[in-house]
Amino acid sequence: PRLRGRAVKRVAFDEQAIATRVRELGDQITASYPDGELLVLGLLKGSFVFLADLVREIKRPLHVDFLVASSYGAGTVSSGNVQLVYDPKTELAGKHILLVEDIVDSGRTLQVLMDLLRERKPASLEICALLHKHIAEHLSHPVKFVGFDAPHEFLVGYGLDHAEDFRHVPYVASLE
Ligand code: PRP
Ligand code: MN
Ligand code: MG
Repeated sequence: PRLRGRAVKRVAFDEQAIATRVRELGDQITASYPDGELLVLGLLKGSFVFLADLVREIKRPLHVDFLVASSYGAGTVSSGNVQLVYDPKTELAGKHILLVEDIVDSGRTLQVLMDLLRERKPASLEICALLHKHIAEHLSHPVKFVGFDAPHEFLVGYGLDHAEDFRHVPYVASLE
């Protein structure tokens, strides 16, 4: 298939596979937080589709807020210059914080944000990522909840973009 003139090389994870895995992650997260306040922090824009599906599979009380960061701009390689565009207004101290990401690539984005969030003294701080390339040299904190090990290709769909296109595609695909 072609999307906006760019060829899709391969569907990496289809809708069915994603739905099944998101349900499993939801169960795992539900079991991991028996008590305390849970704040699910979605990192925009990439995580918006995953976050919406994931929170509906978590069967315990939680609050949702967002962080907005950007490093890739229009390119396909991380600039390393992670900009925080929106900061959650909610108090983080004493809460269980679960940071939700669409994909961990170089790990630069998460490393910058984890350092920043840790300073706010949450009760716990963990990461849930739908996709993990396992090439992150920049990430000191392990990703506790991982959906899929991702191929080392540029991926789009299910929230992931290339120059802002393809976020609405319901599956994850690699580009030619
Ligand atoms: C993408 C992706 C992750 C990050 C991963 O975000 O959504 O947040 O890059 O790359 P890294 O591990 O190398 O830092 P992007 O900066 O493109 O912003 P977006 O979420 O608005 O698309
Ligand atoms: Mn992102
Ligand atoms: Mg992007």
